[in-house]
Amino acid sequence: MVSTGFQDEQRLAFGRVAELYDRARPSYPAGAIDDVLEHGGLGVGARVLEVGAGTGKLTVLLAARGLRVLALEPSGAMAAVARANCADLGGVRIVEAEFEGWQPSECFPALVCAAAWHWIDPGQRCRLAYQALAPGATLAALWTFPDWSRCALRDALSDAYRAGAPPLAPDFPMHPDSEPERLVGARPGRVRDGGQWAAEIAGSAGAFVAPETRLHPCSATYTADQYIDLLQTHQDHILLGPEQRRRLLDAVAEAITSRGDSIELPLVTHVCLARRAANPLETSPAPGELSATLRFWPESRKGS
Ligand SMILES: C[S@@+](CC[C@H](N)C(=O)[O-])C[C@H]1O[C@@H](n2cnc3c(N)ncnc32)[C@H](O)[C@@H]1O
Repeated sequence: MVSTGFQDEQRLAFGRVAELYDRARPSYPAGAIDDVLEHGGLGVGARVLEVGAGTGKLTVLLAARGLRVLALEPSGAMAAVARANCADLGGVRIVEAEFEGWQPSECFPALVCAAAWHWIDPGQRCRLAYQALAPGATLAALWTFPDWSRCALRDALSDAYRAGAPPLAPDFPMHPDSEPERLVGARPGRVRDGGQWAAEIAGSAGAFVAPETRLHPCSATYTADQYIDLLQTHQDHILLGPEQRRRLLDAVAEAITSRGDSIELPLVTHVCLARRAANPLETSPAPGELSATLRFWPESRKGS
């Protein structure tokens, strides 16, 4: 058990629905991959470390750009799907391991982590990334969240959550009352170094510098069934009791089908970037000094 502030049950819930996860979750936009490659100066053949690879949604995109990816994923079920997805791509190795228990044997020019950084122990993750990266290397954490402020069905879905699952607080991105943009404190179309990512990097005791966040807005259209599938890949929905989950999903389906054939969900991919300190002699933090501060939500509001 690692001390993320989350329980292992939450962190590792995705493995229970690995095939569904792979089918239902959106991929990442090409512009987000461009950001990572440009920031890291990564060309064909560059080695990158990926943490929390899941079923390989980001892994395949990196490999398709010619990168060689060493991908860590602790869930055997998720790793098995990732291996299948990457089978026809060269240069990918999937290792079943948590970041906290893994030892790097080389220094990478980039570490990428999609929808998983918050599952790594906040007291260790910057130090671990620092140790795995070369001076000047890129740290890139990505998330894709709904932009509820642009969703026409937000109010109807809010009613469905209140009626179907009142105990579920808006602590996670798929809850229509949540405010996931708080993560970066930025709006689409802008590059910012504010928000929680900047606080995370400031809390790295000089191990990382120059935080910035680049945003890629897009949208996805889901039938009610597809949307219900998507919800069931999020750990808070997975961990609801079966009756409660059924009530909620029925209410959500009703909210969608009573208003049309589908829901258009505005999304924003957040690419959070920072640079590993260039001069480790001046900036290297002592073990235990690092205390990263990124929290998606206040202590009582946790999830993904
Ligand atoms: C929401 S999924 C993201 C998967 C994939 N990166 C994606 O974008 O679809 C989070 C992943 O992080 C993995 N994970 C959880 N704790 C981890 C840890 N301590 N070290 C590495 N991976 C972890 C989970 O098993 C899960 O596959």
